[in-house]
Amino acid sequence: MKRYYITTPIYYPSDNLHIGHTYTTVAADTLKKFKMAQGYEAFLVTGSDEHGQKIQEKAKENNMEPKEYVDKIVADIKKLWAMLGVEYDRFIRTTDKDHEKVVQKIFEQLYKQGDIYKSHYEGWYCTPCESFWTESQLVDGKCPDCNREVHWTKEEAYFFRLSKYKDRLIELFEENPEFVQPESRRNEMINNFLKDLEDISVSRSSFDWGVKVPFDPKHVVYVWIDALSCYITALGYGTDNDENFKKFWPADVHLVGKEIVRFHTIIWPAILMALGLELPKKVFGHGWILFDDDKMSKSKGNVIYPEPIIELYGIDAFRYFLLREFSFGQDGSFTREKFLQRLNSDLANDLGNLVSRTVTMVEKYNDGILPGPKAEEEIDNSLIDMATSAREKVEKYMDELNFSQALEEIWKVIRRTNKYIDETTPWILAREDKKDRLDTVLYNLTESIRIIAFLLNPFMENTSKEILKQIGYKDKVVFNDTSQWGKILAGTKVEKGKVLFPRLDVKKELEKLEVANQKLIEERTKKMLKEEEFITIDDFSKIKLKVGEIIEAKDHPKADKLLVLQIKIGEETRQIVSGIKEYYAAEDLVGKKVVVVTNLKPIKLRGEESNGMILAAEIGDKLTLVSTLEDIDSGATIS
Ligand code: MSP
Repeated sequence: MKRYYITTPIYYPSDNLHIGHTYTTVAADTLKKFKMAQGYEAFLVTGSDEHGQKIQEKAKENNMEPKEYVDKIVADIKKLWAMLGVEYDRFIRTTDKDHEKVVQKIFEQLYKQGDIYKSHYEGWYCTPCESFWTESQLVDGKCPDCNREVHWTKEEAYFFRLSKYKDRLIELFEENPEFVQPESRRNEMINNFLKDLEDISVSRSSFDWGVKVPFDPKHVVYVWIDALSCYITALGYGTDNDENFKKFWPADVHLVGKEIVRFHTIIWPAILMALGLELPKKVFGHGWILFDDDKMSKSKGNVIYPEPIIELYGIDAFRYFLLREFSFGQDGSFTREKFLQRLNSDLANDLGNLVSRTVTMVEKYNDGILPGPKAEEEIDNSLIDMATSAREKVEKYMDELNFSQALEEIWKVIRRTNKYIDETTPWILAREDKKDRLDTVLYNLTESIRIIAFLLNPFMENTSKEILKQIGYKDKVVFNDTSQWGKILAGTKVEKGKVLFPRLDVKKELEKLEVANQKLIEERTKKMLKEEEFITIDDFSKIKLKVGEIIEAKDHPKADKLLVLQIKIGEETRQIVSGIKEYYAAEDLVGKKVVVVTNLKPIKLRGEESNGMILAAEIGDKLTLVSTLEDIDSGATIS
């Protein structure tokens, strides 16, 4: 049996995934299903990249252990893939024990054979990317990969002899123009990275959340070595249980976003060369989905989560949109308008209408029983040709990973079939009692819809099944039959079902979508905030609190709500401006002891200097100054 191995990147579970991550996974899942339809035994790996400094810090911010933190996000990721009907064969976590063991084995082997050696590293370090950069590699003083701040760092590290593989890498690029796709990314690698290949550091000792270097445990394995290895550890490489590795390696395609093409086409092949393993056949670096032409991020508040879209409009509408709207190799901008418009035009109008009009006519003109073809006419051939030849074109585009054009070919058949209704005007044939011709037209329409449903199956499984149910097709979907005409049997009972894609009021839905997304952003931020509410004793001790005695109080000359107080704290007297005039008359305050924050940065309030803050308790419209239970000298420390 022909085999096909496909991977997505393993995503960082530092936050919930957004539609960008979903894009790669949906593409990979569709490709897997398409290959299976073509008769391949296919294997899909996705997973999570859980080690590294960024995750460790993120967990700390949330007062959690790293593993506890990633477990929570990984559970959400798995839920999302289940929700989307993604059928992966292994979800690999870099914290999986089998993976960790093999990563150690790989590191040790490379060290023993001299491909890894110990040295020092000095350079500009990007924490999120965990990458060192030379001055000249920086872009505007920032990380060339992610455009974030970098810090000068020096540490002892293990290095991988990447330079040793330079010639073989150049040869790989030259002899296999297909290895990196699309072409533009290949050129980028050749021009920007392949020319001066230096050895890279492959261990870190500044943090410890990672796979330990087995013979030097103060180092952890660089996160990219750990992550890239997952493509083979997920198949059981390096264990006794390595049938899948033998069966599926080398990968047919690694699907990745454009920002990590370098890791996959230079570092990864070099590691595989060092291990004496075969190289992946292809790395495809797709474009980014932007929002309003900007990179999506939770911190910018412009992140689009897939869950509300799926909940409101279903899996298939979302999968269709992702693969149809964006050209796989290029960046594209997501807008809710575009999504809703495609839903209305392509799904409700073109596809939904075709199915519902056809089924309705079979019900109306033939009691819901599909008639056999009888009186054929020339015009039928153009429909039959188009429908039966679509498969070849779809296959060609899928070979190029051009999902959008593959879908467009299916839509050409859909539009052609709709046009066939207008050309043959079945309602006139019925009125004029041309039964034989009407039967043929109804048969041809239904048969064309069967082919459409077959072709759509890997892209939109639920919709495909629902269409087949409505036209009464009960047998298995056989991809080969997409180029055969006459497979649906006369006598089949059609069954009008639910509306496939209801037409939507764009304006109303826009608001609904936006509100649902915003709600989810708030929920996910709140969850984090709750955990962030904890502070440590070190945080608390940063605030210096002392007892102070109010020795003078005056109204602020320029502000209605402020009092200007002179407060004695031990030997020192300082001025504090306080917004308590609504609650206290100035003269009543003299002689009162209060609690003062003494190390607050001084500011001027309406022209009067304020050097500290006095504490008050407030609830509803009540406010009272905070004092001590017993009398105590001013200057006493509060801790
Ligand atoms: N952990 C690494 C990958 C290791 S693979 C051995 C990583 N993780 S990530 O969580 O940052 O995911 C990056 C990947 O998610 C991209 O390469 C791409 O596949 C997908 N996307 C994330 N944001 C995206 C968009 N805005 N648009 C399209 N895809 C994007 O890098």
